[in-house]
Amino acid sequence: MKSAPWWKEATIYQIYPRSFFDSNGDGEGDLPGVTSQLDYVKSLGVDAIWLSPFYTSPNKDGGYDVANPRDVDPRFGNLEDAKELIAQAHKRNLRVIADIVPNHFSDQHEWFQAALKAGRGSKERERFHFYDANEDGTPPNNWISLFGGPSWTQVADGQFYLHLFDSSQPDLNWENPEVNADFEKTLRFWIDLGVDGFRIDVAHGLIKEDVLTNHSDPQGLSNALRLDVAMDSEVRNALLLTVPYFDRQGVHEIYRKWRKLFDSYVGREIMAVAEAWVHPPVNATRYVRADELHQVFNFDLLTAEFDSKVLFDVVERSISLNATVNALPTWALSNHDSPRVASRIGEEQARALALFVFGLPGSAYVFAGQELGLPDGQLQDSDRQDPTFLRTNGQIKGRDGARVPLPWSGNTTPFGFSTGKPWLPISQCWRDLTVESELADPKSSLHLYRNALELRKEFLVGAGGIAWLESSQHGAKNDSLLSYSRGSITVVMNLSDSAKECDASGKLIIVSGGTVDARDGKKVIPARSTAWFLA
Ligand code: GLC
Ligand code: CA
Repeated sequence: MKSAPWWKEATIYQIYPRSFFDSNGDGEGDLPGVTSQLDYVKSLGVDAIWLSPFYTSPNKDGGYDVANPRDVDPRFGNLEDAKELIAQAHKRNLRVIADIVPNHFSDQHEWFQAALKAGRGSKERERFHFYDANEDGTPPNNWISLFGGPSWTQVADGQFYLHLFDSSQPDLNWENPEVNADFEKTLRFWIDLGVDGFRIDVAHGLIKEDVLTNHSDPQGLSNALRLDVAMDSEVRNALLLTVPYFDRQGVHEIYRKWRKLFDSYVGREIMAVAEAWVHPPVNATRYVRADELHQVFNFDLLTAEFDSKVLFDVVERSISLNATVNALPTWALSNHDSPRVASRIGEEQARALALFVFGLPGSAYVFAGQELGLPDGQLQDSDRQDPTFLRTNGQIKGRDGARVPLPWSGNTTPFGFSTGKPWLPISQCWRDLTVESELADPKSSLHLYRNALELRKEFLVGAGGIAWLESSQHGAKNDSLLSYSRGSITVVMNLSDSAKECDASGKLIIVSGGTVDARDGKKVIPARSTAWFLA
């Protein structure tokens, strides 16, 4: 029997290099720092690492503003360091996924600099979205940047360029074949260097339609696209159907071409996962049709309430929608763009949800620090660097809280992360959350993750679909138990604030918190906890 490709049900560990481990004392994590901690990464039981961007960049948006996609930024090291990281990862049987950012370049990229010089009507400007001002001097349309403020910036000769994100991130014009040619070169560059896959940033954004048409409610649309702005879900969903720059059909042609490129590396099993925030949810499945990409992120768990009906719906929908295109879902509780799960839903709930999710079919993504149960870092406004904060004059706090460097060892901040001053401050309260202190505590979140990932590999990877159990009362909001069986494992999550009985059979093999007692032949699951039973 041919074995499943490596990525099919992999556990993938997301590393934000600037916040992982600093090897040279300048206060910022770097590639040699990652390499030096690969034994730790391996010990978690993950299959692969995904590295957020480490390319040459002025770092206006945490490196998602790329000035040279085929080189390493000096703050992170150099190409030799990247090669060494890949080699050391492979030596430990860890795959490496690079982040590719095709929606925009940095304004410091040589193409954009050339476009500024070459002037209106030039072929250099055709690689971006340059347009003249309206007659009254206003920008070509009224779209609002996803980071706040207008999505157009005017250059010296009066033309405007489009940027869905920061003004330092000009959007590329994917109608221009030179753009795809350059990205294929970049993909090959990294594959030839040894990477095993790509996370595709803003994968749904490359094709724009109606660039010269105003949107009827740009502010509403901008709020709808922001997960940190509360909004009635029907209003939000209706607005999301009107976005003119996301999820256009043309993006799929790009990924069909890329898939051919990946598959041309016979025997390498190169994979790609799309960051595609699209609506309605069924649209996400188009990115993982057989001739397109391999995975698409499911972001629902980044915002889902800790509620049995909500979670049942998210899990059920994701599994069944993906099944229509023969794909498996992905699960992520945290990433560098959202509040950390322990802060969002609470520490015990975060552990319970992680253990619940690790039993499910598909790939699980773990954001570095999640395994420690890290909350968001507490920051002063003067610490913040996220362009969202800067572009909204501080109205939106931004994503820096999730990006605070990891605490490794010792009793005082910065806990071994760096011998210098970390780029974001690490609170002294993280003293009991260091890798070192959690390794010493068998009840720590770190041990839970390690044990869970080992059991997942032993009993669940490749075990097929799930069957919801009757004890799962997912019909109404606020029911306490959610449970499924898969292969030889039964997974029971108690979402309520008191212990609950359930009639799962089998032997307890792991619990996310507290102890499971037996009473009258039933199992008693502690409050806010998940348990696995082996038949
Ligand atoms: C993606 C990244 C985010 C970045 C944005 C613009 O959403 O995850 O961090 O700011 O793209 O590149
Ligand atoms: Ca460094």
